[in-house]
Amino acid sequence: MTLLELEDVTAWYGPVQVLDAVSLTVPDNGAVGILGANGAGKTTTLRAISGAVRAGGRITFEGRDIRGMRPEQVAGLGIAHVPEGRGTLGQLTVRDNLRVGAYLRKDRRGVASDIDYCLDLFPQLKDRISSSGAALSGGEQQMLAVARAIMAKPTLLLLDEASLGLAPSTAKNVYEAIRRLRQDSGIAMLVVEQNANLAFSLVDSATVLEAGRNVLTGSSAELRGMDEIRRAYLGG
Ligand SMILES: Nc1ncnc2c1ncn2[C@@H]1O[C@H](COP(=O)(O)OP(=O)(O)OP(=O)(O)O)[C@@H](O)[C@H]1O
Ligand SMILES: [Mg+2]
Repeated sequence: MTLLELEDVTAWYGPVQVLDAVSLTVPDNGAVGILGANGAGKTTTLRAISGAVRAGGRITFEGRDIRGMRPEQVAGLGIAHVPEGRGTLGQLTVRDNLRVGAYLRKDRRGVASDIDYCLDLFPQLKDRISSSGAALSGGEQQMLAVARAIMAKPTLLLLDEASLGLAPSTAKNVYEAIRRLRQDSGIAMLVVEQNANLAFSLVDSATVLEAGRNVLTGSSAELRGMDEIRRAYLGG
């Protein structure tokens, strides 16, 4: 079944149109990638879904039209967004960042056990549980951003450039944890990633954006085999 569907989505920043026609489908429990050069509209696509930018076209989640909803409404439906640049709260401790992630939940016991799950998924955070977000390394902040999103118990995770600015080994660790999360929970994912090798290690299929439009869509295996993808995104 289809969880999220975008059909000919357009988006504007003020008078400037940056998405022209973006279409994609995320199935239940599926993981879909968005590839593309800088400025192609990857982040804006995620922001159109989460209600952070004015959008046209059709955006449906669990069969319901969500286009035009406010970000809090979209989050309340079960869509958690890990934004580019992480957006963790620097003044709060790691523990409080995780609690903030769960602010819409009432099941206190479930929240406590999900905090334990997050610390098991990202053991580095366990050692920093009482540190402020601002005192974490870039990799730890990225782990916290993902963990905070998990705390909302979402059905769909929007993940924007989780590897950005991280050492290759740290980026690999973060993606291994996200793969495990996917196996453990079946959370569906829409993953923006410049590092196509990391993206293909996680997603089943992907779409390539160019100037706010899809130019290629296929399974990870299909895309991996294409010369133009290899040249542009896989280093040869
Ligand atoms: N807040 C904004 N106001 C005006 N224009 C913006 C804004 N944010 C992005 N843009 C423009 O919209 C276009 C798409 O940007 P977007 O951030 O979606 O690209 P991206 O694919 O995520 O790129 P990157 O790989 O660099 O993160 C770009 O031309 C960008 O300059
Ligand atoms: Mg971006």
